[in-house]
Amino acid sequence: MIDYLQAAREAASATEMPEGYRLVPITEDDLMEVVAVEKCVFPQEAWSAAMLADELNGPFRIYVGVFDHTDTMVGYAGSMYSPDSAEIMTIGVVPEARGKGLGKAMTAALVSAARVLQVDSIFLECRDSNAVARSLYEELGFAEIDRRARYYHNPTEDAVIMRLILE
Ligand SMILES: CC(C)(COP(=O)(O)OP(=O)(O)OC[C@H]1O[C@@H](n2cnc3c(N)ncnc32)[C@H](O)[C@@H]1OP(=O)(O)O)[C@@H](O)C(=O)NCCC(=O)NCCS
Repeated sequence: MIDYLQAAREAASATEMPEGYRLVPITEDDLMEVVAVEKCVFPQEAWSAAMLADELNGPFRIYVGVFDHTDTMVGYAGSMYSPDSAEIMTIGVVPEARGKGLGKAMTAALVSAARVLQVDSIFLECRDSNAVARSLYEELGFAEIDRRARYYHNPTEDAVIMRLILE
């Protein structure tokens, strides 16, 4: 039987990367590095190690990490897949490595995986004020479809729900 999740991870790994960086599927074996990146990227609202372990081990998840030339993880992202749709759960790049195309590459990798899994749409939620993330997602074809009032806290803010329809 074809292992579709494995095929999707392989498709994600084939994403073209900026020089000096490599993108690979990650697992719970990478937990300590994921925890470090998470604390750095989301200092106010970092997921705990236990939550991150659950995510990395969760069913129908694909997580990818980006590593620099010293083999240090500088970003990670992940999606959850169901038969018809996918949801981007998280994406983050450490501040020193931003603006080099790594966030876009990780998002593109998750989109490639979704194509292999033949889902119709990919959804995500984003803070209304997160102009950088929204611009990244729009460049890849995501569009706002809805809002959730006061969804985020510290500070309280609306969530923008975006969707990419896959052809
Ligand atoms: C959002 C985030 C992942 C982007 O990662 P990144 O590696 O810096 O992004 P990229 O270099 O791939 O840039 C992709 C696009 O984002 C936008 N972008 C990146 N930096 C930007 C900036 N300083 N100002 C405006 N737009 C910017 C651009 O549209 C850019 O595309 P372009 O280079 O073709 O113009 C990163 O800023 C981050 O980790 N932020 C904190 C966590 C977060 O907000 N996660 C998203 C939650 S929804």
